[in-house]
Amino acid sequence: MNKLDTSNTNKLIDRFGRQVTYVRLSVTDRCDFRCQYCMSENMQFLPRQKLLTLEELASVGKTFSSLGVNKIRITGGEPLVRKNIIWLFEQLGQMEQIKDLTLTTNGSQLHKYAKNLKSAGVTRINISLDSLKAKRFNDITRVGDLKQVLKGIDSAIAAGFDKIKLNSVIMKNHNHDEILDLVAFAIERNIDISFIEEMPLGIINSHGRDKTFYSSDEVRKDIEAKYSLNSSNKKTSGPSDYYDINNSDTSVGFISPHSHNFCENCNRVRVTAEGRLLLCLGQEHSVDLRDIIRRNPGDLEKLRNSLIEAMKLKPKSHEFNVNVEPVILRYMNMTGG
Ligand code: 5AD
Ligand code: SF4
Repeated sequence: MNKLDTSNTNKLIDRFGRQVTYVRLSVTDRCDFRCQYCMSENMQFLPRQKLLTLEELASVGKTFSSLGVNKIRITGGEPLVRKNIIWLFEQLGQMEQIKDLTLTTNGSQLHKYAKNLKSAGVTRINISLDSLKAKRFNDITRVGDLKQVLKGIDSAIAAGFDKIKLNSVIMKNHNHDEILDLVAFAIERNIDISFIEEMPLGIINSHGRDKTFYSSDEVRKDIEAKYSLNSSNKKTSGPSDYYDINNSDTSVGFISPHSHNFCENCNRVRVTAEGRLLLCLGQEHSVDLRDIIRRNPGDLEKLRNSLIEAMKLKPKSHEFNVNVEPVILRYMNMTGG
């Protein structure tokens, strides 16, 4: 299928018949944390002019929404360290086609912004939390203050989002002993939690990833020692498997990016902070949207056609392997997960 079916030009459909309805937009590569699995200690960040401006980000969102995209997740780096970011949430929140406007954050600024995000139309928030021990939290994030993040989580709960989910990256001998505590923390607050396998993105120097790998199956076994899990019928097109925890409102997710079985239903693309459209997290296929936007100022039609064309580049599946050097040299803070 080389030629795009013209009846589909209001939609983003790739060569394998998958429709893209979900976009993850990274709004900055900067972060106030330096998580060991995400960044090296002294990261070089992009100069400002290389980032999409907030106006450009809004145009990208609008163009995607005209092509059947109904869900946008704002990611980073840490989105809330970008100046005036609430303006972008307000713009996206007003787009009628966008039914789900979500945010992934480390929680450090949530005590300041939770209310504004809710009023702007954010529906759901994912907050990273890898440890409940202050010292360890500070080790993993290199600089983070657990107390401030816990305050942020409380503010988010008080603001009344449809859903709040914690994301925990589990590493053997770093925090795998806290799995049950993290689950209990989520249950107490009636929020959800997902456990993420560490992905080999970027070269990091703090630990060998083959030594810290802790599989979703192992995490699940640990949880089942105390809680009974029922497979949830909540289906996403991503790498997550969800379970309901008996006698609670909490659902627990297992994100296993090493498995391939979700690629078939993949419905998403990513835009990096510098405006590179990535067709697959695990592959380098990309289109430089920033270049297209800056060469054709104000021409959303051009951008729209480029997005439709780009679907031809979406690969069938990703390739991750913890046992070999990373083939993906991008760090997570460029793509926001
Ligand atoms: N592997 C897995 N998860 C990662 N994150 C950042 N880097 C990695 C990695 N290499 C997580 C963060 C956050 C989410 C956006 O991605 O902890 O929860
Ligand atoms: Fe920042 Fe998130 Fe990366 Fe941690 S994982 S350094 S919070 S972008």
